[in-house]
Amino acid sequence: MAIIIKNNIFVLETKNTHYVIGTEKGAGIQNIHWGNKCRIEDYEIPEGYYFLYQQRMRDCFREEYSCFGGISYKESAVKANFADGCRELELGFEGYETEGNTLKLVLKDAHYPLEITLNYEIFDGLDIIKKSVTVTNNGSDEIVFEKLMSGEFNLPGNKPYRIKNALGNWGAEYGPVDTELTGGSLVFESRRGISGHNNTPGFVAYRSADEKTGEVFFANLAWSGSFAVEVSRDIRGITRAVLGMNSFDFEYALKGGESFTTPEIIFGRSEGFGEMSRQLNRYGIEHHLPKYFNNAPLPVLYNSWEATAFDVSTAAQSEIAKKAAEAGCELFVMDDGWFGQRKDDHAGLGDWYVNPEKFPNGLDELIENVNALGMDFGLWFEPEMVNPDSDLFREHPDWAYHYDTRTAHELRWQLVLNMTKPEVQEYIFGCLDELLTKHNIKYVKWDMNRSFSETGAENLEHPKMLWYLHTKAVYDIVDRLREKHPEIQFESCSSGGGRSDWGATKHFDMVWTSDNTDAIDRITIQKNYALTRPVKTMRAWVTDKNWYNREVPLEFKFNIAMRGALSLGGNLNKYSAEDMEICKKYVELYKKVRNTVQFGDLYRLLDYDRDEISADLYLNGEKTEGVLFIAAVNTRCVKEAETLYFDGLEKDRIYEFDLDGRHFEKSGAYLMSEGIPVDAKQQYYNRIIEIKAK
Ligand code: DGJ
Repeated sequence: MAIIIKNNIFVLETKNTHYVIGTEKGAGIQNIHWGNKCRIEDYEIPEGYYFLYQQRMRDCFREEYSCFGGISYKESAVKANFADGCRELELGFEGYETEGNTLKLVLKDAHYPLEITLNYEIFDGLDIIKKSVTVTNNGSDEIVFEKLMSGEFNLPGNKPYRIKNALGNWGAEYGPVDTELTGGSLVFESRRGISGHNNTPGFVAYRSADEKTGEVFFANLAWSGSFAVEVSRDIRGITRAVLGMNSFDFEYALKGGESFTTPEIIFGRSEGFGEMSRQLNRYGIEHHLPKYFNNAPLPVLYNSWEATAFDVSTAAQSEIAKKAAEAGCELFVMDDGWFGQRKDDHAGLGDWYVNPEKFPNGLDELIENVNALGMDFGLWFEPEMVNPDSDLFREHPDWAYHYDTRTAHELRWQLVLNMTKPEVQEYIFGCLDELLTKHNIKYVKWDMNRSFSETGAENLEHPKMLWYLHTKAVYDIVDRLREKHPEIQFESCSSGGGRSDWGATKHFDMVWTSDNTDAIDRITIQKNYALTRPVKTMRAWVTDKNWYNREVPLEFKFNIAMRGALSLGGNLNKYSAEDMEICKKYVELYKKVRNTVQFGDLYRLLDYDRDEISADLYLNGEKTEGVLFIAAVNTRCVKEAETLYFDGLEKDRIYEFDLDGRHFEKSGAYLMSEGIPVDAKQQYYNRIIEIKAK
């Protein structure tokens, strides 16, 4: 683990890999190697640019951060406009700085006083690197960026790669995308103002890999606004990826003397997809998630949304809270409907006062009831929004993004507040701060239920900066609230998983992965979320909503939801005594194993889509305790028992557990090489197996 520098070759050495960059003074910066560790002497700065008709042909060059300018026709990472009308950059390497685990490579424009610094950081014991870009205007004239991405990648060799991303929608987040890129470009993006439900801000690239083997290259952008991931394969076969804030309708104006740093990218290279997930999970806990709760197990919460929707009141919520406490919940979150004139989703957003008809004695009566049951209390907000039918909008119609000459289209009867206005930011901060100060609230669910449209922001000198400024304002408000109320946990929600990116998890402790609580659909949603996201951040509810006219057994639902941050959300008032016993049993079991789930290493032993059985093993860091979740919906009748090969165990240790009436006492070596049979023919087969090392 070190940053090794030799003759203008910079080696970012992680636990098992080298990411190598080379340059020469005045020339561009090139990526030389990304993969296994080699001898430092093996690395050489490649022969300059590819020459075509004696011209420097930059398109086919493995640039570490390519600019628009010169002979280059590819998607560049940065495009800037200067005050005199020049719209091109000419960047050359200027120098570097290194301190501890960080490296800065400085590029300068040949003519204008613009400096671009590529920032890198490596982390002890991990195969993860973080990078971002800082632009500094050392002159006095403004420089306006039309594109300012966080980083660029050149994948090794020139054979095609397969690229993983997601294709999703509301209720169907994290649908898998796995496609070969043989030529041309693939763009995964959001233009919606939020990272959204559709694609994810990152990529996973591989040629031939599975859970345990094969080179996997991955990168995640920590940004919750519009983004783009542009992956292309050029005429020489090189696969490149550029990641950052979407340049669609984008501008960032840098005044003289100012600096700006882009959102960061968390990236790495692993052997197999499993190791990628574990590396990212560990990085998330150790270096990324908000500090106060990153090492604390998340509570089992109850959320009232599916049970009571907008119909909330002290009596009804207190009633259901009793049941939640009986089930073992530690936190009770009242969702939408408690404020303003919020009878349904047509009104009230923006009016963050407690509805006096629903809560005639204020909020404290309910909070005290909840606290008396031994639970903390949490509350739902949707701070960035306003219903035209609200006092806030009647008073400040100009606070929503709009153009005077255009229809302001409502989605879910609401408009997006212009968060770039300081008065809007102060209003939101003030409302939340007051409620959090006055009441014993321990949890905030921050929702966001529509994409942007008609993004007029004429208050700004550069209105296109709103895409950046809006998300920045959300982060700033959350950070300010957290600083003032450090004991409060924050959940990021956006109609389910519309804001479940690495930017969100830098400011929020967890995310709501999807409104879809159907346990079968959840297998896919959660699997693909946890592929590149920390498990602990994945809120997962057990509810009684029948999404698809299929009755999924309660035990099965627990089996799936316990693989993340377990929560309950059904109408417990309607649960039979038997159902309540099931809830109690599983909540108790979850509390016993949650440290292993939330902080351990996840090994995906069987894959539901491939094997008809989903089997996830979570192991603690010492490999002495594990919990194995197995679930299958309807395997084929004649299917032979599936062999379950363990992974991650210590070869020489003996592990003990019971499965289907059989007691196993086997070495790690045996379990990993011989495995055990799992006969999952029973419909909705589900087992939760605690494993202990002797
Ligand atoms: C969308 C969220 O995803 C739900 O969980 C719930 O909070 C509703 N909004 C409330 O309007």
